[in-house]
Amino acid sequence: MILKEIEKLITEGARACGYDDNFSVTFSDKPLLSDFQCNSCFALAKKYGKKPLDIANEIVCHIKKSDEFEIVAISPAFINITLTKEGLKKVADFMLKDQRGGLEKNEVSQKVLLDYGGANVAKSLHIGHLRTAIIGESLKRLYRLLGDEVISDVHLGDWGLQMGLTELQLFEEGKLDFYFGKSDEKRELTIDDLNEAYPHASKRKDAEEDFKKKADEWTLLIQSKKQPYYDIYKVIRAISVNEISKNYRKLGAEFELWEGESDASEYCDEAVKIIKDKGLARESEGALVVDVAKEGENIPTEKNGEKFFLNPMPPCLIQKSNGGDLYATTDIATILKRNKNYKLDRIEYVTDARQKMHFTQVFRVCKMSGISPQNQQLVHVINGTMNGKDGKPFKTRSGETVKLEDVIELLLNKAKEKLTANGNVADDETALKIGVGAMKFGDLINTVSKDYVFDIDRFLSFEGKTGPYLQYTCVRINSILSRFDEERGGEIKIYNEEMRQVILAMLKLNSSYFICYNEKSLNSLCASVYNLASAFSAFYNNHSVVNEKDLAKQNSYISLLRLIKKKMEQALYVLAIDIPKKM
Ligand code: ARG
Repeated sequence: MILKEIEKLITEGARACGYDDNFSVTFSDKPLLSDFQCNSCFALAKKYGKKPLDIANEIVCHIKKSDEFEIVAISPAFINITLTKEGLKKVADFMLKDQRGGLEKNEVSQKVLLDYGGANVAKSLHIGHLRTAIIGESLKRLYRLLGDEVISDVHLGDWGLQMGLTELQLFEEGKLDFYFGKSDEKRELTIDDLNEAYPHASKRKDAEEDFKKKADEWTLLIQSKKQPYYDIYKVIRAISVNEISKNYRKLGAEFELWEGESDASEYCDEAVKIIKDKGLARESEGALVVDVAKEGENIPTEKNGEKFFLNPMPPCLIQKSNGGDLYATTDIATILKRNKNYKLDRIEYVTDARQKMHFTQVFRVCKMSGISPQNQQLVHVINGTMNGKDGKPFKTRSGETVKLEDVIELLLNKAKEKLTANGNVADDETALKIGVGAMKFGDLINTVSKDYVFDIDRFLSFEGKTGPYLQYTCVRINSILSRFDEERGGEIKIYNEEMRQVILAMLKLNSSYFICYNEKSLNSLCASVYNLASAFSAFYNNHSVVNEKDLAKQNSYISLLRLIKKKMEQALYVLAIDIPKKM
């Protein structure tokens, strides 16, 4: 990477004057003055008791002369570095020839399991699952691009009370008569049956104590794999998974593993046994719990006569009094299972903040019990919520949670409107790419942990920091390039300032992947790819590629465009934003 290369030059220069220190180089925060900067001389001056500027000057004088960089010391003690035309040309040619466009990989490759779907069987996918899918998919693509080996798991919520509730509701509606021998005619269950049953049952659960108790029993019967309860459950699961996968496909989220909580059920007993054998479990009101609190947590506090805990960290419930599996148990058992099947350096989860406590507890139990080896990283990537314009979590007009399907439909229709208004044919495929692309960029440009406002009109604008603007940039470049034969192109000579800015934007883009990797957030990549698209736009507005008469110049332009195309496509691939053929 270019920053490393410059750091090496400076370090060698410094060594020649007797300073055996580390230097760090960044992109310049004053791009009018230089392309890169090094601020390390301040610390050196302190260490050696010299004047900062003297040290900077001394080092600069000892840096090996190169026709690729211009290096100067400026007051108070910066070393400023600028790429010469020769340097830029070398960088551009390298990026053009390199399959990855000069993007390196991490020095160490890790084996990672990424758990980021979380859709629930028998329930519709809702808006809360949207960010998780978008962020998880992009993190997966990013990790892979930088050399990690990643397995993605949708980890369906398929082992909880919602199954008992749904089955009981369907039973009472007479839709399960065949399974219970009450009718000879098999009535095939449909997705509409499920979509109706769960919300209904969920309301009844809160209003009818008896219904809730019965649903608990049904859940236990399913979890104990009793017939016909378990067979019906499998039918419900299959219908639901079919529907869920359609939605994930529309979002471009792909999972290798379509497993769920239920797949860990056979490991629950073993997990509980390990925890018990380690002496970590205790009984509490008939249930089994593990105390996971550390010092400084659960401090009894009283304020205005009200008693509560400061830093609450309740014990983790690992077995219900009726012996049923709990959410935490399935996650602990899933880690046990994963560690039996793979040798994982990292297990990472993407969900919203509501699960923070859950994962803290699960991770602690796994570490305390050795279910997760000490050198394995367990990471919870917490995403903020998507809010409506009122700043509150996005809801339907009647105040209900928005279904993911409805959001996709909305994006599709809005994109169609936009395309038609611009005089284009609005086919479903293109509209979906634009609508979903707009949504993804509108999401990923925010720091993962922050909430943001869903503003569909702004997201769908063809100008500014938006998905469609980036897609449009690619479409435009493709259309220009389609006018030239494959043989055209060649070395990239730097003819103007705009070309220079494009190449610098690509260097920044390359380094943003590593920032994203460390931050587990895609916002830096979004900003950098937008920056590249704007640099291209400035270039394109000032120089005509098609009408350029000077052939050598035109060849340079063509190659530059090919390189931009490669870099834009690479970035949009990571953001999982598809590029339409036309728009
Ligand atoms: N099914 C859960 C929900 O919808 C999310 C699952 C998150 N992943 C996990 N391994 N627990 O809230």
